[in-house]
Amino acid sequence: MNIQKIKLIKPTVELKDTFLKGLKEFQQEKLPWVMDFKIDELEKNFDDFVKSQLNKKTLWTKDTPVDETELWAVIDKTYVGRISIRHKLNADLLVMGGHIGYDTCPSYRRKGVASAMLKKSLPIAKQLGIFEAMLTCNDDNIASIKIIEKNGGVLKERKVQYKGGPIKRYYWINL
Ligand SMILES: CC(C)(COP(=O)(O)OP(=O)(O)OC[C@H]1O[C@@H](n2cnc3c(N)ncnc32)[C@H](O)[C@@H]1OP(=O)(O)O)[C@@H](O)C(=O)NCCC(=O)NCCS
Repeated sequence: MNIQKIKLIKPTVELKDTFLKGLKEFQQEKLPWVMDFKIDELEKNFDDFVKSQLNKKTLWTKDTPVDETELWAVIDKTYVGRISIRHKLNADLLVMGGHIGYDTCPSYRRKGVASAMLKKSLPIAKQLGIFEAMLTCNDDNIASIKIIEKNGGVLKERKVQYKGGPIKRYYWINL
């Protein structure tokens, strides 16, 4: 795999097969926050799913949803990960999630995909009018800490998100 060939593109039906393959791998990991779509439904109606990704909002937050730009990372026509840029912060995103969130398909990890996705997303975030991007990650997510710091992230705070919850890191990247 040549990481230099990585591109961020808008969600497209053309990536259906490799997107669903990646989604199955994500779901096997049982992470609490990602990708709880029903695979059999997506297999039947991928077009509508793609349309929903092209007009995405942060419906998972309790506060007023904000627009999200969802981008897929592709190498040689294979879906390898996703990144999304929230156009502004609502009260929930300020506590969890921040402006930018990303995930690399398990089969493509530790090859520089997330580092490259974040790097490529920053000029796009700036075009969307974000001049300081906030990113959050768990204090023990070594990979994410490296990804954010190598992309200019400055650690502003470490705090427990809610009673009994994990310690979160709050980074800001000047765009
Ligand atoms: C965290 C995640 C996005 C990293 O994606 P990735 O494409 O493997 O990241 P990269 O290949 O760009 O790796 C960045 C750095 O972290 C290191 N790294 C990656 N996975 C690691 C791991 N599990 N443990 C320790 N270091 C790790 C890499 O070696 C690399 O180090 P380097 O900068 O010194 O070369 C991916 O593991 C993932 O999707 N995890 C589940 C969802 C998640 O945690 N999302 C982020 C929420 S903040």
